Amino acid sequence: MSYVDVRDEYISRVVSGMTFAEVGGLWGTVNEKVSVAHRYGATSLTMIDITSEGSELWDKFRERMVGFGITDYQCIVEDVCKLQYSHPDILFDAIHCAGVLYHHINPLQVLISLRNITRKYLVLTSAITQSVIENEKGRYVIPPSGVIFVPALDHREFEILKQYWTGFEVRAFGLTDRVDYRPDDFGPWWWLPTAQALSAMCESVGLRVQESAHTWGNNAFTLLLERSS
Ligand SMILES: C[S@@+](CC[C@H](N)C(=O)[O-])C[C@H]1O[C@@H](n2cnc3c(N)ncnc32)[C@H](O)[C@@H]1O
Repeated sequence: MSYVDVRDEYISRVVSGMTFAEVGGLWGTVNEKVSVAHRYGATSLTMIDITSEGSELWDKFRERMVGFGITDYQCIVEDVCKLQYSHPDILFDAIHCAGVLYHHINPLQVLISLRNITRKYLVLTSAITQSVIENEKGRYVIPPSGVIFVPALDHREFEILKQYWTGFEVRAFGLTDRVDYRPDDFGPWWWLPTAQALSAMCESVGLRVQESAHTWGNNAFTLLLERSS
């Protein structure tokens, strides 16, 4: 079988007969993976997102589930980092999370929280940075072990990265538009790890890398992770 999306491929491999949850799947609506987990045989389905109940994003998600004929699923409004306190016994066999890590002030805490609610597998995607970015604004270099703290970019670095990301038609708060950062704001981009750094971050919190793939023109990295501790 051929897959258009490596995230779908990884989910299809691990989710049959498993309880499944997606964390942070609402924005954009069509990128949700609850329907994918359903298609590949998950035994229970949950969407977890920080977006408040009453937002049109939840309405659109529910409409989409109706479109797929999926009626049996759970919705939880919560910050992934607070889940283990608000829902102390919560645990899922398999989890999918994409597009959350680099929006959070504490990416390692996001990974620890994801690990804590994962019994077996986590399919994780994050935006990443290239080690070398060169364009007419200059040359930006970060070692493969590095993570960019986006609020720290100086003017020249910001201009190089802005030019790079706008070339992919990305509009990203903090990265292509300067913003005033607030610690509780999940809108801006806070961090950009390299693929190597992201893998090491996962391994260091007890998530063993089984497989990985560069996606989105090498600007994102998807990992199939297995809980190791
Ligand atoms: C950039 S969108 C990614 C949407 C989708 N997963 C994708 O890859 O296109 C981030 C999503 O995560 C949610 N989110 C952000 N921070 C979160 C947090 N701390 N806990 C749970 N959900 C969060 C947002 O509400 C939003 O739906």
